[in-house]
Amino acid sequence: MRIVCIGGGPAGLYFALLMKKNHPEHHIRVVERNKPYDTFGWGVVFSDATMEAMKVWDETSAAEIQDAFNHWDDIEVLFKGTRQRTSGHGFVGIGRKKLLNILQKRCEDLGVELIFETDVDADTQYPDADLIIASDGLNSKIRHRYADIFEPDMIVRPNRYIWLGTNKLFDAFTFDFRKTDHGWFQAHIYKFDDKTSTFIIETTEEAYQAHGLDEMSQQDSISFCENLFSEVLEGAPLMTNARHLRGSAWLNFNRLICGKWSHYNGNSHVVLMGDAAHTAHFAIGSGTKLAIDDAIELTNQFNLHGHDKSNIPAALETYEEIRRVDVARIQNAARNAMEWFEVVGRRYADHFEPEQFMYSMLTRSQRISHENLRLRDKNWLQGYENWFAKKSGLPVESNSSTRHVPPMFTPYQLRGVTLANRIVMSPMAMYSATDGLINDFHMVHLGSRALGGAGLIFAEMTCVSPDARITPNCLGLWNEEQRDGWKRLVDFVHQNSDAKVAIQLGHAGRKGATKPAWEGIDQPVDAASGWPLISASAEPYLVNSQKPKPMTREDMDRVIADFVRATELAASTGADWLELHAAHGYLLSSFLSPLTNQREDEYGGSHANRARFPLEVFKAIRAVWPQDKPISVRLSCHDWAEGGNTPDDAAIFAQMFKDAGADLIDCSSGQVVKHEKPVYGRLFQTPFSDKIRNEIGIPTIAVGAISEADHANSVISAGRADLCAVARPHLADPAWVLHEAAKIGLTSVPWPKQYYSGKTQYETNLAREAAAAAALK
Ligand SMILES: Cc1cc2nc3c(=O)[nH]c(=O)nc-3n(C[C@H](O)[C@H](O)[C@H](O)COP(=O)(O)OP(=O)(O)OC[C@H]3O[C@@H](n4cnc5c(N)ncnc54)[C@H](O)[C@@H]3O)c2cc1C
Ligand SMILES: Cc1cc2nc3c(=O)[nH]c(=O)nc-3n(C[C@H](O)[C@H](O)[C@H](O)COP(=O)(O)O)c2cc1C
Repeated sequence: MRIVCIGGGPAGLYFALLMKKNHPEHHIRVVERNKPYDTFGWGVVFSDATMEAMKVWDETSAAEIQDAFNHWDDIEVLFKGTRQRTSGHGFVGIGRKKLLNILQKRCEDLGVELIFETDVDADTQYPDADLIIASDGLNSKIRHRYADIFEPDMIVRPNRYIWLGTNKLFDAFTFDFRKTDHGWFQAHIYKFDDKTSTFIIETTEEAYQAHGLDEMSQQDSISFCENLFSEVLEGAPLMTNARHLRGSAWLNFNRLICGKWSHYNGNSHVVLMGDAAHTAHFAIGSGTKLAIDDAIELTNQFNLHGHDKSNIPAALETYEEIRRVDVARIQNAARNAMEWFEVVGRRYADHFEPEQFMYSMLTRSQRISHENLRLRDKNWLQGYENWFAKKSGLPVESNSSTRHVPPMFTPYQLRGVTLANRIVMSPMAMYSATDGLINDFHMVHLGSRALGGAGLIFAEMTCVSPDARITPNCLGLWNEEQRDGWKRLVDFVHQNSDAKVAIQLGHAGRKGATKPAWEGIDQPVDAASGWPLISASAEPYLVNSQKPKPMTREDMDRVIADFVRATELAASTGADWLELHAAHGYLLSSFLSPLTNQREDEYGGSHANRARFPLEVFKAIRAVWPQDKPISVRLSCHDWAEGGNTPDDAAIFAQMFKDAGADLIDCSSGQVVKHEKPVYGRLFQTPFSDKIRNEIGIPTIAVGAISEADHANSVISAGRADLCAVARPHLADPAWVLHEAAKIGLTSVPWPKQYYSGKTQYETNLAREAAAAAALK
């Protein structure tokens, strides 16, 4: 095959050398516009896994790279006058120039033709090439030329960064956060050879502009940074890489995804590789790794399909298919980390104490969990757990060497109510009531979950009037008989467990008069057993749903009165906590979302108008609910549909409910319109809670795909929520909380006294299983 790599960065060079090494008969040429040994940038970091793969594919270059590597384990964070350090993070750094020189030399030794100082305009300059690798970096001309085929989706991110170097050497991956009058700046610093460290400085566009950095000369801009980071630089100057834009100017990171990676131009197959195909933010240092992994995978595909030009289409197809998955995974993690740095100032740095700030930073990509931190640096994590326990009011001596409970098992107080731990059983409709009454099913269902260890037990959405029900079998609270049922339940829970009880009050609105979920989700009941529906506007939920009546002022007054009556009844049950259900497309949610609220009066249009009726309900119930007990509000923080509410809108509503006296926002999402396209995944709604808690300054519950103690501990430790709600796992296991405690080796969490002999046996069995699994390793 005749192969031309346009661009001699890590991707082009590594692919060239691997292909030549595997099949010396290929004619391979790398065309690079720069001179040899002339490049932008300072150091790059790699993971140990990439290094292992490189050893397998080319031991010679891997050995040289490994020799040139600087390995370090520690992360150090400078923040608000503190310096904190943790270990076990395993990075390797190498100078970009050094890396390219090793690859260039290896290419030459293997017989790859290297052509420098040639700026390639188009792939068509090489009509006799069978395969053209477009490894020409982020601003790839080749990708640009076939933009309609490759469909590049480039997003310019808001932060500014400058990539500098310094001769001061750092023995840890160091992050330094500095506040100026106009906002926060952060430096990402790591040593990459025995003389030099990379020093990347990042800030928001506002701070960049406010300091006039956009108009400063390069030297003034460097002096500004030297001053700002003088403590960590200790007099060492910062250096620029003046001849290359990426090594000298304040830039914005460009996130790139391409719809397609290869194309046949009539003579040659052209394929994108490395930064030309995708980018990953430097916050997790993976750009070079991705470029190297691309080169390895395409070589692997030729090894599998055969090194003949007839195999090129098949090799390119599977290369793209396989690499896309890994690239998406890394881009996801990189996106989380990048977004963390974009909002770090206003969301975390302004409010967090150094200890929690450090935890939040370490887990910013959300790929490193609580237990993962324990594996990396047990002592540091134990110190953090103890700090958190003390903050939560537990008696912990400073510098205690004893392990105290992890964050999910710390108590939490809101108004006069103290929860024994941070796990909430999320409300779940059971559609098992007659006339809205609690029956034996509810007593057993909710009672056993209370015995199962959750700090707060929600029953299902409890409807404030017969026509507020989702189905004819929903729980209700509009009469004294229903209240007495609730009281029996509340008394049982209080007498037999440490759990508190929450009642979620709601009105189904346009999603009312439907069958139980197992008979067809959201399907309307027969006309005979239904009732007229009301909503913000006259939009049915499904095409075959009943058309709701837009609420009149009179309807609003009646519904407010229903909520007030239900709240008074709830108060007389002795329940500890009330939640107003303003999510999931039910009545109050139908006002909040622009997709379901088309009103032209003062209840539609702006945020203030859409929130007007839900706030009227909230204020009315707050006035009659005991002052020493909290009320939370559940919001759909994302409609997952075009034109619908986004987390930014949810934050506006959260602020309004906070101002009206809400104690906490329960951050759910979706179910507002049927054509929603939610993006599910582990902890998928936690970012909404994080945003609302830390930007609006109100406690939150995170919910959604929180299914292990490790998840809950990570979320609570990092301050992404105050409480974690767990729904479906509680259906699978009433004692989810007790079992999760045992799984993380926490034996101090009490079980109901009647169940104690089960506790010891359960813990012993888990310990045996763990020992057997360890012996097999
Ligand atoms: C601030 C910053 C920090 C980073 N830190 C890290 C890190 O710590 N770890 C990490 O892994 N990655 C890091 N990266 C990312 C990394 O630099 C890239 O992801 C990686 O270099 C991609 O390799 P590549 O070969 O695809 O592209 P590049 O390295 O960009 O190489 C492309 C090459 O093509 C050449 N070229 C371009 N156009 C033409 C043309 N028309 N004709 C001829 N030649 C051409 C260029 O001169 C260049 O040499 C960082 C990036 C930035 C911006
Ligand atoms: C069977 C079932 C019924 C639900 N009913 C309600 C409800 O009545 N009120 C409510 O706010 N959310 C309800 N939800 C949503 C859950 O409270 C929770 O937000 C969601 O299931 C995501 O959490 P999970 O991933 O832990 O299951 C229900 C969920 C399920 C599975």
